[in-house]
Amino acid sequence: MVDPASGLDAALDVLLRDGAIAALGPDLPCDAAIVVEARGCVVAPGFVDLHTHLREPGFEQKGTIATETLAALRGGFTTVCAMPNTEPPPDSGPVLSALVERISRDAVVRVFPLGCVTRGRAGRELAEIGELAAGGCVALSDDGSPVGDPGLMRNALQLLAALDLPLSEHADDPALSAGGVMNEGQVSERLGLKGQPAAAEVAAIARDLTLAEMTGARLHVAHVSTARGLELIAEAKARGLRVTCEVTPSHLFLTEDAVFGEGPQPAYDTNAKINPPLRTENDRRALVAAVNAGLADAIATDHAPHAAEDKRCEFDAAAPGISGLETALGTLLVQVDRGELTLPAMLRALTIGPVRAFALDQRVPHLGRLEPGATDVVVFDPAERWRVEARHFASRGQNTPLEGQEIFGRVRAVVVGGRLAFQREGTGV
Ligand code: DOR
Repeated sequence: MVDPASGLDAALDVLLRDGAIAALGPDLPCDAAIVVEARGCVVAPGFVDLHTHLREPGFEQKGTIATETLAALRGGFTTVCAMPNTEPPPDSGPVLSALVERISRDAVVRVFPLGCVTRGRAGRELAEIGELAAGGCVALSDDGSPVGDPGLMRNALQLLAALDLPLSEHADDPALSAGGVMNEGQVSERLGLKGQPAAAEVAAIARDLTLAEMTGARLHVAHVSTARGLELIAEAKARGLRVTCEVTPSHLFLTEDAVFGEGPQPAYDTNAKINPPLRTENDRRALVAAVNAGLADAIATDHAPHAAEDKRCEFDAAAPGISGLETALGTLLVQVDRGELTLPAMLRALTIGPVRAFALDQRVPHLGRLEPGATDVVVFDPAERWRVEARHFASRGQNTPLEGQEIFGRVRAVVVGGRLAFQREGTGV
């Protein structure tokens, strides 16, 4: 049993009663109605994802609240934060209310919505920020569309500072990255693809940190992909700015070489096209070190399911994104096995790290912890190996660059809201 929030790391039983953890301890009396055998497994707080695309409403061919939250559950995630790049996007109270209603009807894990920073995510005028805060948004973001106008960004941060809500920013300077479809460097040159330079992310992070300092706002830098971007965030944190950041399992595990294709992997693999792009090995190592050091507050999936036709086309035309909820734990545990990531650091970035970044425990007490009163638990076997076959995903998006690869770690059981919501065969007694 591992709980990074308390430092707990011991072989114990956990007893749930009336929808919450009632006790943790050695050899608890075993008269429960349901017993999950977890010998050899890790028991941890349910994972929390700060960056999930559920696609509904508007893009149900890519995914729905029902399919993508089931993917979350199977991946061990009991809480996901839904990005607002839906159609319509939640940029006002009424649109948000309709979304919340759909979520309460169809979601099989806890979903916290993010609202838009600007109306229609168009970057021209602010969204109905007061209504979005009152309606329960845990953060605001224009998601794949960075807030380009620095004056508008300043106004948004000022408002959000007053509301004490974080702004999750896709840090990118479109003037530098426009037209780029992968990382700019030797690989893009060899493939003849237009690249996005690391500077597009680094320059945007520098601007956003400057504005966060000016306004006192909480800035969350989404999916950091560059070593230099991390250095700027480390410096800002050291100076006491209210900045947090996330890294994705894809950027931790893969580099731009996945686009080039190696061995059995195809070249120009559109499934390896994401935004921000997969970077260099030097960047990847810096991201791994940031998780181990706690500089990266969260590992967030950026789960981005797409329909087959969005990817079955030439590289330039393909939609960016990876369906990642069901492989996140598996690739992270490969990295634990390699000695790259430590298990406690990995779990911290999947549990209490993201909870603190968005202050989610102010909304649901005990979230991200294993303690009496907590309601979300994941049980996984860290040693079980399995081969990625996207056709078996619960997600509607089968877009993964990991097809056929062997990864580690199988989710055995998941408790959400005190209820055993998922159990893989062979674990019941
Ligand atoms: O790869 C990405 N896919 N990056 C984004 O910023 C958006 C996302 C999506 O919604 O497909």
